[in-house]
Amino acid sequence: MTTPTWALTIAYWLHMLATVIWIGGLAILTALIIPVARRTLDENAYAVFLERVQRRLDPLAWFSVAVLLGSGMLQMSANPNYEGFLTLNNRWAWAILVKHFLFGLMVIVSGYLTWGIMPSMRRAALRQARGQDAPEINALQRREHLLLGLNLALGIIVLALTALARAS
Ligand code: HEM
Repeated sequence: MTTPTWALTIAYWLHMLATVIWIGGLAILTALIIPVARRTLDENAYAVFLERVQRRLDPLAWFSVAVLLGSGMLQMSANPNYEGFLTLNNRWAWAILVKHFLFGLMVIVSGYLTWGIMPSMRRAALRQARGQDAPEINALQRREHLLLGLNLALGIIVLALTALARAS
């Protein structure tokens, strides 16, 4: 059964929208917001500001992950190059397989950020705001910036693999 054009159109639209939100959000955060905020705000204000930005971006990122997975599955099943689960007879299939692998890595990194780093940063920022010591906060901020940068790099490679699939 062929996938109706209206369904594929909506899938591609949502897939590209989710790409813009997630990868665009990572790019703006790592290349613009964090460097400028670090140079502009004092330690307390920076910790509170970063925590608030992340608290807004995080649900959007997870929503994008779900949309990319759902729309991606539909696009994959409708693509003439798709010959079945783990059937790797052409370059398109290999590009999409490696893309899935990197997507999985990005989800693991996002999970560690959301359920590992961010709660620790929130607690440290709260203690700092109360004037208490939070010696771990700089290390946490550095690790968060590093992992956001890693996810951006993986997202850029995912786009390159998508371009390879499209060209196949
Ligand atoms: C970080 C995650 C992802 C990003 C940034 C991303 C981005 C994109 C973009 C920009 C396109 C091109 C749309 C076009 O011009 O036609 C695309 C196509 C596609 N994506 Fe994704 N995607 C992601 C995850 C996924 C996942 C998880 C799947 C599968 C479950 C998937 C499957 C596909 C398929 C099958 C196509 C069509 C390729 C073709 O036309 O040859 N994507 N993706």
